[in-house]
Amino acid sequence: MKKITLLLAVLCAAFALPPVQAQSAPAASAAAPADDALFRALGGQPGIDRITGDFVPRLVADPRTSEFFKKTNQAHLKEMLSQQFCVVAGGPCVYTGVPMKLAHQDMDISKGDFNALVEVLQAAMDAQHVPFATQNQLLARLAPMHRDIVNVH
Ligand code: HEM
Repeated sequence: MKKITLLLAVLCAAFALPPVQAQSAPAASAAAPADDALFRALGGQPGIDRITGDFVPRLVADPRTSEFFKKTNQAHLKEMLSQQFCVVAGGPCVYTGVPMKLAHQDMDISKGDFNALVEVLQAAMDAQHVPFATQNQLLARLAPMHRDIVNVH
């Protein structure tokens, strides 16, 4: 058992995972505090609102994405993105918008379109002085959504 515990500890260290207990640990309780470190690093809700307030007009203006957003209610999209980024970052919010798959299903979005949107988001975060590591953490949490959003292969 000791050898297995050591092996697990080494593997966890190698892959930067939290250590696994050899004996069954109690499951994280629903009352455990949420990890809101990324939400705080983004500047809380005011910081997120500044990012989405910069991001949406860029999406409308950028020639790579403008066609998609030409009929968009910008204020509504900003509000939905603010809620969603807050949730994704571990903040105390509820996303009240349409689920990602449904929201994007009739849009013919390619991987290139998705990457363009990510670059526009990076530009918005740069403009709002979001540190590089914080940007990457938010992007890493948004990236898996490509499975529900990219629908042209
Ligand atoms: C991680 C990537 C993305 C996220 C997190 C995201 C998030 C969202 C959210 C929260 C909404 C609002 C849904 C609602 O109204 O309830 C939305 C709508 C929309 N998204 Fe995305 N999206 C992503 C990628 C894309 C891409 C790549 C495109 C196209 C280039 C796109 C185009 C649109 C359009 C056109 C709308 C509808 C706006 C309207 O109401 O007119 N999205 N998206």
